Amino acid sequence: MIVVNFKIYEETFGEKAFELAKICKKVSQKTKVKIIPAVSALDALRIRNELEIDVWLQNVDEVFEGAKSGSISPIQAQMLGVSGSLINHSENKKKPGSIKKMLKIWPNKFKAMVCLSSMGQTERWAKNIKPDYIAYEPKNLIGSKDKSVASEKPDIIKKIVEKYPEVPIFVGAGIHSARDVEVSLKLGAKGILISSYIVKNKNPEERLEELARCF
Ligand code: G3P
Repeated sequence: MIVVNFKIYEETFGEKAFELAKICKKVSQKTKVKIIPAVSALDALRIRNELEIDVWLQNVDEVFEGAKSGSISPIQAQMLGVSGSLINHSENKKKPGSIKKMLKIWPNKFKAMVCLSSMGQTERWAKNIKPDYIAYEPKNLIGSKDKSVASEKPDIIKKIVEKYPEVPIFVGAGIHSARDVEVSLKLGAKGILISSYIVKNKNPEERLEELARCF
């Protein structure tokens, strides 16, 4: 499975988010690899309803219901057809303790991919909390064009996967080649979480297909 984080790059503003999501759908159908766009809340419903694909958010808030202006509620998202969300991305960290509280009342069937940036954290979460998915993304590699977890820290993927095989581990940060994906999968990762290499590429469809072919 591939999760493409659209972030709020200019390349995903307006119609461009919809076009990129269409590419995710097309490549997914062609390669039979599940590809989920993680999009801005502003685009999620249109993409979900018009393309009829699973769509995730990039973040949801700790507040689920009530007088909390501006918050994005996971319950509301799920009711409207969104299938899941990233949580605790390095660019949108939660306060210590709040993710556990959120997951206790998390809507049924709404997928949670908890993003973690250190091996210690990843191990603790895999052992104690076991969310639907864990994405291991060291902050210093996010956006890198020449370094990735597969090239810099392959031992960490292997170690966590071997110790906690029941939790699907995803690898993110700096993925920029099919080789990065191949190495991650060979070490036991269940998928990748990727952004700039796809979103900012002149030919996202070709790049995404190259990566999907590694599965
Ligand atoms: O959520 C994915 C992201 O943080 C990785 O970004 O640009 O290194 O693929 P990028």
